[in-house]
Amino acid sequence: MPRAADTPFVVDRGSSVPLFRQLYERTRAAIATGRLRPGDRLPSARSLAAQLGAARGTVDAAYATLAGEGWIIGRGAAGTVVAPQLGGSPRPPAALAAPRQPARSALGAEAAPRPFRMGLPALDAFPRKLWARLVAREARALAIGGLSHPDPAGDRGLRDAIAAYLAISRGVSCTPGQVFVTGGYQGALSLVARTLLAPGAEVWFEDPGYHLARRALVAAGARLVPVSVDDDGICVEEAIRRAPQACLAVVTPSHQSPLGVALSLPRRLALLAWAEAHSAWVIEDDYDGEFHYAGRPLPALKSLDRADVVLYAGSFSKVLFPGLRLGYLVVPERLAERFSAAHLLGGELGRFEQAVVARFMADGHFARHLKRMRGLYRSRRAALATALAAAFGDRLGLDRQAGGMHLLARPAGNTPDTELVRLAERHGLAPAPLSAHAIEADLGPGLLLSFTNIPEAQAEAAAQALLGAIGRRLAPPPRWR
Ligand SMILES: Cc1ncc(COP(=O)(O)O)c(C=O)c1O
Repeated sequence: MPRAADTPFVVDRGSSVPLFRQLYERTRAAIATGRLRPGDRLPSARSLAAQLGAARGTVDAAYATLAGEGWIIGRGAAGTVVAPQLGGSPRPPAALAAPRQPARSALGAEAAPRPFRMGLPALDAFPRKLWARLVAREARALAIGGLSHPDPAGDRGLRDAIAAYLAISRGVSCTPGQVFVTGGYQGALSLVARTLLAPGAEVWFEDPGYHLARRALVAAGARLVPVSVDDDGICVEEAIRRAPQACLAVVTPSHQSPLGVALSLPRRLALLAWAEAHSAWVIEDDYDGEFHYAGRPLPALKSLDRADVVLYAGSFSKVLFPGLRLGYLVVPERLAERFSAAHLLGGELGRFEQAVVARFMADGHFARHLKRMRGLYRSRRAALATALAAAFGDRLGLDRQAGGMHLLARPAGNTPDTELVRLAERHGLAPAPLSAHAIEADLGPGLLLSFTNIPEAQAEAAAQALLGAIGRRLAPPPRWR
């Protein structure tokens, strides 16, 4: 039976520190010093708000931030408790030395992502025990041969497993010899740049598009041609008008990043026909094609590629975890030798984690994990969308696409999204501004809200926290105008 907590829940109304912040910091300090212990129950947000004479949203915001950082967890009707997994011993005072930093793990990374943080799979749902077992097994099996230089193109077992998975799951047929293991998508882009791009080469790039890919290509000397995106994906006709002689198009056909739309079949065919006619290449960034909630995942663009012009890039960042820094690139057969030579220069990956991923895939854990994550994301996404709609009404429009790992929210009014993000960050939240993904496009304000790390039980608190943070900067509902 959880013990009722002594109250650290007092606030100083004369202070310039917002009430939400005071409550958050005092509760966190109470947990860190052991005054509140793992399993202790916290007062309900409603009763604490009444006790303090504060708005319910103030307490919700403090609880959401604490939950987002892993200090407390919501248990539905059973209330909110100090996270049992914090263990029996109080945190050392060092955890308090940097009061605005989230809790840290042994490796120095954030213990739990802040609510809405983009780019992360559900870290709480990763099968860490199983992973640890496979790591230990690989370590025990390490033979003398495993100590020498690895194959720069990647671990053979992993390349086999990737080729088998792509054939079954994404409709992509390739040999293991066409698969190059890379340091994530970033590594794949740098390999493509080294192999195919002359300095100043023109590259079609979605606008808005994935900002880290944009930076990597610009750093590699490419000249980006921004191309608009509409409900059918990248506007291929516009791209052909603007830069018919470009040598490469970089696209996210399954779920456009960040708008979430799928590239329509006519556009897919037009893109492939252009590349074939102009001896150009296409990079398909299939970073989250597995996470599609309405119907089956769309087949990859590569599965339509009769002329062999598509380089297919996959990443383990979203389907396993980004700390791995592993991804892969499948190149057309006729480019395999050139890529081998280029990879020989840059092959910088260690063998060990590749072997663990290979085992994870070959033993069927990967397919099971993906299936579980699809179900989890479907329900987390629905819970967050419902909670946001209840909290904001029509002051926050939601673009609900058929897949992806985030919601795109359209705040009512003219406050720039960067300003809204700054306010949210002050409340311990981590949405991203849509405008940061634009090159020339004028998209209006938008917030990218990842749902992957917001358990259903915390969706309402997260939505209330966001409302508390940005509500005053949104246009009022129509009946107040
Ligand atoms: C659009 C897009 N592509 C690819 C990736 C994967 O990048 P990496 O493998 O470098 O982590 C991400 C990750 O956030 C992404 O958002």
